[in-house]
Amino acid sequence: MTEKELFNLLNDMSFKEKIGQLNQLAGSFFSTKERNIVTGPLAKDGLLSKNKYLTGSVLGIKGAEDLIKIQKDFIENHPHKIPMLFMADVINGFETIFPVPLAQSCSFNPDLIKKAARITAIESAVSGLHVTFSPMVDLVRDARWGRVMESTGEDTYLNSIYAKAMVEGYQGGELKDEGSIAACVKHFAGYGAPTAGREYNNVELSTRTLYEDYMPAYKAAIDSDCAMVMTSFNTIDRVPVTANKDLLRTYLRKTLNFSGVVISDWQAIEELIYHTIAQDGKEAAELAIQSGVDIDMMSGLYLENLETLLEKNLITMDLIDESVMNILQLKNRLGLFENPFKDANILKEKEIVFCKEHNDLAKELTIKSIVLLKNEKNILPIIDKSKNIALIGPYIDSKETHGAWSIFADKNTNISILEGFKNLNPENDYEYSKGCEILDKDVALKGFEGEIEINKNDPNNLCNAVKLAEKSDIVIMAIGEHRLQSGEAASRVHITVPKIQEELFNEIYKVNKNIIVILFNGRPLELENINSKAKSILEVWLPGTQGGNAIANIVFGKESPSGKLTMSFPRSVGQCPIFYNEFSTGRPHVPNKDKDRFRSKYIDSSNSPLFPFGYGLTYSTCKLGDISIDKDTISLFDQLTSKITIKNIGNFKIEETVQLYIKDCSGSVVRPGRELKGFKKVYIEPGEEAIVEFIVKEDMLRFIRHDNTFGSESGWFVIYIGLNSVETKEIRFYLSK
Ligand code: GLC
Repeated sequence: MTEKELFNLLNDMSFKEKIGQLNQLAGSFFSTKERNIVTGPLAKDGLLSKNKYLTGSVLGIKGAEDLIKIQKDFIENHPHKIPMLFMADVINGFETIFPVPLAQSCSFNPDLIKKAARITAIESAVSGLHVTFSPMVDLVRDARWGRVMESTGEDTYLNSIYAKAMVEGYQGGELKDEGSIAACVKHFAGYGAPTAGREYNNVELSTRTLYEDYMPAYKAAIDSDCAMVMTSFNTIDRVPVTANKDLLRTYLRKTLNFSGVVISDWQAIEELIYHTIAQDGKEAAELAIQSGVDIDMMSGLYLENLETLLEKNLITMDLIDESVMNILQLKNRLGLFENPFKDANILKEKEIVFCKEHNDLAKELTIKSIVLLKNEKNILPIIDKSKNIALIGPYIDSKETHGAWSIFADKNTNISILEGFKNLNPENDYEYSKGCEILDKDVALKGFEGEIEINKNDPNNLCNAVKLAEKSDIVIMAIGEHRLQSGEAASRVHITVPKIQEELFNEIYKVNKNIIVILFNGRPLELENINSKAKSILEVWLPGTQGGNAIANIVFGKESPSGKLTMSFPRSVGQCPIFYNEFSTGRPHVPNKDKDRFRSKYIDSSNSPLFPFGYGLTYSTCKLGDISIDKDTISLFDQLTSKITIKNIGNFKIEETVQLYIKDCSGSVVRPGRELKGFKKVYIEPGEEAIVEFIVKEDMLRFIRHDNTFGSESGWFVIYIGLNSVETKEIRFYLSK
């Protein structure tokens, strides 16, 4: 449709039709299939279902046959035959399930992540979907919060790169192109900083921190032409984002020039009442529409109140028309007026979804997402087939290995470790003993009924596992959080491996010291006990479909691990929030450098994380040469080149991620100890050496200055280059203005 035709349509629509476009229903109002996903409290059915043939969009259902039928029936019943949008949370794969986003981000490989997003889009589109509620780009610094699993970590620069990659992967060239779906960046804004890491809790961020650290990734998505923005549940400056005009009207629409569709999070408009800034549903609806929220996800308050608000002149028809037009334009960008079914195709769906090519890419990305945290005496990889290996732990033969938001996954297609090992080494008979269940009755997971059975633990499991460990050379122990202990509404104050599993680990350790831990989790965990005893720790996160195959490749040395942490692992939850680019403070504590009591430190723990941002081992050892720069002063318009050599002094071919950090030694506001400003992949054969160069320009040194302008300031800077955020070589340069 042309713009003119869209405006004619708008002017021809009845008021009820217009309000219908602003309303989103859950799939269960249209489809009886078991795959209806409800991700929040269900609103009042009556009101919503009686208006269902006017609704603008639906979330949480999929399937070409079902959605073609629903869309056909819907259009026949709609006065202007305006097709619905089908939306869903497809955040780490559709049916080919990729590792959770926090895992993917450890690949430091935006191209691979873009390809995974593309595959997600292709599978979603052929199954009838038009929009994914992804990328989630919330910066995270607190492992107590369960949704760190959905993020790409604690670094602003990296989150911005991944936000761009995912939006481009989902949306392709044009939204109407085959295989493209609209992306919806979330959760705008600052949702990743809930006080105390408690889900849906208040967010207290200074304006400078919000715009310096949290906002750039949303901006990167919007600059990549992201079609939608989802408002977050939280407050900013004590105003819930869903009613925050400063954020939505002034910053998002005007400063960022966003012209797409703003959707509330699930019932977030109704939650304005519980936030105590709206007396009732009417006031909540008024606040949200005035703030520019176009679609009401599942509260029904727009349906219920906008007509009254209009009659009382509390809102204008222009306001409603503006939101309706945003939605019609999105449908038009997707080509739905010409083809309301877009890519939905029953035959193609069978060919494309979960095809080998998609699985192959999933395996590649899963391998790259795995992080080797420890590898004493190079116990990994296991090359010597004569070794008698015991497979122990509840995750050895588990298929519960996909992230909590893998809403369309069929867990039976997940490759377990046992299957992956047998796929790689079919001639081997692996001895396996579960040892214990993933959870025991001490873990109260209210509301998860039906999704998590708290199995009664069979004490024989433990004895059998100990017996097996006693007679083995090596124990491969697969343990970790339950997959639903991370994700939405899964904040934890004890970020540990479930107690029953830690007890199993300790018992096994008593009879066998050669333990390789394979860790399944959606967040950084407290690992001091396990780290002090295990010979090796392989962080595999929640790896999804190809988990077992990817893990087998790494364990048996087909490839060296190459992942690097994008979120710090605290020694203790008491350190949270903890992140690499912290500030010096007025009393910096330099380990072993000061005996002074009065420093910024704990008296019962080190300040440092157990494993820092950017950290990850390979099967080889690399030696960094000296760092150099071609000039020690740059001005506004020139640049310097910094170089370093890296030599593979081990005997394994590896992929390393060389990281560039920069510290601003002084500014008009305090500046972080160091900030990631670049990274490069190097692939080095044993004995080989590579030279890595980074260009440093003035625009990499800009920040929100004291006067709130964005720019750099002259002065000294330090370049750090290394294989993680801590072990680096450094050199200074001066920026003159
Ligand atoms: C949830 C989540 C959001 C998701 C939405 C729709 O509550 O906060 O990330 O996209 O509801 O399922």
